[in-house]
Amino acid sequence: MDHYMIGWGHTRFGKHTDCDIESLITQAAGEALEDAGVDAAEIDAIYLGHFNSGMSPQDFCAPLVLQVDERLRFKPATRVENACASGSAALHQGLNHLASGAARRVLVVGVEKMTDAGAAQVADSLLGASYRRSDLVETSLGFAGVFARIAQAYFDAYGDQSDVLARIAAKNHHNGARNPYAHLQNDFGFDFCNTESAKNPVVAAPLRRTDCSPVSDGAAAVVLSDASGLANARRAVGFRSRVQATEFMPMARRDLTELEGAAHAWRQAMQHAGVGLDDLSFAEVHDCFTIAELMIYEAIGLTPKGEGRRAIEEDWVTVDGRLPVNPSGGLKAKGHPVGATGVSMHVMAAKQLTGEAGDMQVASPQLGAVFNMGGVAVANYASVLERAR
Ligand code: COA
Repeated sequence: MDHYMIGWGHTRFGKHTDCDIESLITQAAGEALEDAGVDAAEIDAIYLGHFNSGMSPQDFCAPLVLQVDERLRFKPATRVENACASGSAALHQGLNHLASGAARRVLVVGVEKMTDAGAAQVADSLLGASYRRSDLVETSLGFAGVFARIAQAYFDAYGDQSDVLARIAAKNHHNGARNPYAHLQNDFGFDFCNTESAKNPVVAAPLRRTDCSPVSDGAAAVVLSDASGLANARRAVGFRSRVQATEFMPMARRDLTELEGAAHAWRQAMQHAGVGLDDLSFAEVHDCFTIAELMIYEAIGLTPKGEGRRAIEEDWVTVDGRLPVNPSGGLKAKGHPVGATGVSMHVMAAKQLTGEAGDMQVASPQLGAVFNMGGVAVANYASVLERAR
C-alpha cells in the first residue's frame, strides 16, 4: 500500500434548506483537514466530485473548496464528473496525482445539492446519466425508470423478486437507523417495504418508493496522503487496490440481467489486492435501487447468477452476517447526493476500519471493499481498503 486516507469529514445527508453547495463543501472539507491534522498549506491539489447536470445553478464548484482556508489559494483545484460515481472519480484522480509523484497530500471532496430543484428537473438531470439516444424512458420516471427496466428484465429471467427487494430495503433502513449521517433514519421494516401503500407507492413498476435511494443534499471529504504522511497521521486507511472499469453505455449492447462492468471492476480489485470475498469484513456497495444491490451480490461473486436472493434471504449480508453489505444503510437509507456518494462510501469504510463507526460498527474489521457506479454499472469503481495505522 502506497496511498492512504489520513482524515475525513462528512455532513449529514438529507434535505438541507439552510445550506448551499459552498457551505456543504466547506463543512466537509474543513472537517477532513482538521481530522487529518494537516495544514491547508500542505495540500498539493484539490479534486471535487460533482454531477449537477442542471440540478444546481452554481456550476464550476472546484474553486469553492478554497473558501475553507485562504492557504488553499493558488492550489490546483479540478472538478471531476462521472455521473453517480463522480465522488470515486475525484478520489481516483487524487490517487493518480499521488502516484505521479507530483503531490504528497490531496484534498478530495464530493458534493451535490439536489433538493432545491423541482422533482421534474431532478428526474431529467439524473437521466443525463443514461444513454439518451436510444435508452428512452418516460422522462418523469427519471432514473427509477431505467432501473425499473433492469428489474423487469431480471424478473422476466428469474421470477418476481419484489419481496427480495423489500428485504434489501428493510436491511438497509435497519442499518441506516444507526447512522447519524443518514438522510432516512427510520427502521421501516419488511412489511412496510413489501407493501404498496400511500406511503410506499409504485414509482416505476416494479419499483416502489422504498426500492429507491432518496434525493439528497450532502458532502463528504478525505485527505489523501502518500507514505510520507503516515508517521504523523493519527490513524490511516490504505488502498490495497483500486480499479476503474467503463462498460458500454447503450443497453442494447449489454445483458440487462447482469452488471458485467461491476463484476469486472470488482474481480480486478480483489485480484490486485490479493484477497478473496471471505477475507472481507464488510462491503459498501452502490444500492441506488434495491435491484442494483441484488445484482451486485451476483457481480461480486457472493452467489451464482440468478441466485442473489439467497444472500439476503439467508442473512449473509446483515451486519453480523458472513459479509455485511452496506452497514451504513447504503444509498438507500444514507441518501444519494450523487457527487458526494463515492467519497462518502470511502469515509464510511474508513470509519469501520478504524473502529469509529459507532452504532454501525461491524465486529473486528480487517479489510473492507467499496463499489461505486455511475449509470447502470457504466462507470465502475472498486477499492479494497485496510487500516494502515
Ligand atoms: N425511500 C423511502 N422514503 C422516501 C424516499 C425513498 N427513496 N424518498 C422520499 N421518501 C419519503 C420522505 O421522507 C417523505 O416522508 P414523510 O412523508 O414521512 O415526510 C415521503 O417519502 C415523501 O417524500 P417526497 O420527497 O415527496 O417523495 P417523492 O415521491 O417526491 O420522491 C422518489 C420519492 C423515490 C421518487 C425520489 O426519492 C427519487 O426520485 N429517488 C431516486 C433518485 C435517483 O434516481 N437517484 C439516482 C440513482 S442512479
